[in-house]
Amino acid sequence: MTILSLPQYDISIGPIGVKHLRWLQAQEYAGLAVLVDENTAEHCWPRLAPDLGGLNPQLIRIPAGERYKHLDTCRYIWEQLFAAGAGRNWCLLNLGGGVIGDMGGFCAGTFKRGIDFIQVPTTLLAQVDASVGGKLGIDFNDIKNSIGLFQDPAAVWADPAFFGTLPPRELRSGFAEIVKHALIADVDQWEQLRQLGDLESMDWATWVADSVAIKQRVVTEDPHERGLRKALNFGHTIGHAIESYFLFSETPLLHGEAIAAGMIAETWLSHQQLGLAAADLKAITAFLLRIYGHQIIPEDAFPTLLEYMRQDKKNEDSRINFSLLPAPGRVEVNRTAEPEEIGQALAFYNQQAMH
Ligand SMILES: NC(=O)c1ccc[n+]([C@@H]2O[C@H](COP(=O)([O-])OP(=O)(O)OC[C@H]3O[C@@H](n4cnc5c(N)ncnc54)[C@H](O)[C@@H]3O)[C@@H](O)[C@H]2O)c1
Repeated sequence: MTILSLPQYDISIGPIGVKHLRWLQAQEYAGLAVLVDENTAEHCWPRLAPDLGGLNPQLIRIPAGERYKHLDTCRYIWEQLFAAGAGRNWCLLNLGGGVIGDMGGFCAGTFKRGIDFIQVPTTLLAQVDASVGGKLGIDFNDIKNSIGLFQDPAAVWADPAFFGTLPPRELRSGFAEIVKHALIADVDQWEQLRQLGDLESMDWATWVADSVAIKQRVVTEDPHERGLRKALNFGHTIGHAIESYFLFSETPLLHGEAIAAGMIAETWLSHQQLGLAAADLKAITAFLLRIYGHQIIPEDAFPTLLEYMRQDKKNEDSRINFSLLPAPGRVEVNRTAEPEEIGQALAFYNQQAMH
């Protein structure tokens, strides 16, 4: 078990057991509610229920998926909390992927001006990314994460045993954030990743702990995304646009799949703008293609993608903001690129289909 101690709360990585239960009992909450979706109700709740049963938790169950990360579902969650008689001294335990964590945290952070919540992330993406950093929110008018707040959980319990029931495609998607963390902040981790055979044989507890440590270091220095935290945006300016574009296609991409494509395009920008070595461009591109394959982006979609990038809430003015790599393990924030150069980066990505 690894424990990362932050000023406000602890992140534990490893099996959830007696220690967690004792900690929970010591909080003396007046009541406990557990938020699950249909999949985590089936696959994850049975693992926790025997330990938590004594606390008589109120189970709140919602449908699974990003489609439900909106205000109507929040209304349902708040109604369930009111119906259970929840007060200020209740706690909401969010058991699920990033959707449950983001939306459950948002509902808890605003219910009666805020009650405690515990994040129990059950996907790889949620363990290495969504549950760390205090960003909570929902989608509004089809704009992702456009309503929300920054608030820390009371605790994060990340147990890689939950990955046992996770569809392999979801696991692979979450892995993109591990690759990103290594590329922006830890060249040794990147060198280890390059040697990897397949994802099935990974020692997840170690990888999650090392990767979370990187994100935690970055967000502790810049909790409200004024500077350094933008480093975590590597691959995401172009990746988010690709994700949004394919969302309405017949072949939607998972978040990490789109981010992998975005990282390839932004690695090319890094080579152009910051002199990232050609050998590194080649190695990073080959690695990401090996894991994620390739998805052609129609050239007539480039203007739509650019429009998505212009709307990115991380831009400070009309220019499109990037975080790029001068070398593996290092990152430079607040880079910008002109539309023509971004088009070339997308074209570079498309050319990789030939290799
Ligand atoms: N707050 C942040 O900093 C942050 C960072 C990155 C992503 N996010 C958000 O995270 C969300 C994506 O998270 P996600 O990829 O975890 O998606 P998700 O929560 O939709 O989970 C993916 C799917 O896996 C299922 N599932 C979850 N755990 C399972 C398990 N152990 N076994 C079987 N099935 C399981 C879920 O029911 C769902 O169908 C997005 O909404 C994104 O905006 C937030």
